[in-house]
Parts: sequence; C-alpha cells; structure tokens
Amino acid sequence: MKILILNGPNLNLLGKREPEIYGSLTFEEYFKTLQKKYANIELYYYQSNIEGEIIDKLHEVGFNFDGVILNAGAYTHTSVAIGDAIKGIETPVIEVHISNVHSREDFRHISYITPVVKGVIAGFGLQSYDLALESFI
Ligand code: DQA
Repeated sequence: MKILILNGPNLNLLGKREPEIYGSLTFEEYFKTLQKKYANIELYYYQSNIEGEIIDKLHEVGFNFDGVILNAGAYTHTSVAIGDAIKGIETPVIEVHISNVHSREDFRHISYITPVVKGVIAGFGLQSYDLALESFI
C-alpha cells in the first residue's frame, strides 16, 4: 500500500513554530516513528510552501497511490485550486490538522478541502496523521 503524507505551508517549521499549538517535535522526527510503526506500508512524505507544487504532487500520485493524508495548512482555508485538484484525482484524500481548527479563529472554520475529501481528523496533535493512516489500513 502506497500512502503519501502531504504537508503545506509553514509545516516545515514544526518543532519551532508556535510550539504551544503545534508541539515541539519536527515532522522529520515524527515521520521516522511512523515509518517504523507502519513498516509494511510504503510511506512517502512531501512538504511545500507553494500552492502549485502541492497541486502538482496531488496530480502525480492521484492515480497510482492508495491514499493521501493532506495537511494543507493555511491553504485549507483559501484554496479553491487545491479543492479542485482533489476532486480531479482518484486517490482518496484525508484532511488532517494538528490543532483543532474549530476551536480557533473563525477563518479557520472554513475549509475548501472538507467537501471533497473522504474524512477529516483535527485536533490530536501529530497523532492526527497516525489516526488518518489507521483509517487506510
Ligand atoms: C493547521 C491549521 C491551519 O489553520 C494553519 O494555518 C496551519 C496548520 C493545523 O495543522 O492545525 O498551518 O493546518
């Protein structure tokens, strides 16, 4: 089974960025624990701060991977284009958020991704990714 974890803008700063919200672990450290835990899954990771690169990656994997776990960061709340890309591919996408976006500012309650994904997991810290992976198994 091939699964891609796709992280959007500012998620390269995990570990340093607002640790009271996003924790103090880097994604690279967390990804290593996921790879060990799910050794039987072909797990890939890609991060970009650029909307078009996220869309290109969705197109690239969207017809041959078994799942995408997408944290689109702030693009979640703004990007019609990422929503359209998800609509255009076959691979099921799960939307994840580290924080509980619904308990934060109003603009974070809007998602252009939620209507076109299989499901949403938010608010469990980095464990949100783990829970999304479980759902594909
Ligand atoms: C986030 C929530 C978004 O609102 C924010 O812009 C992020 C991270 C999360 O994982 O909690 O960059 O997607």
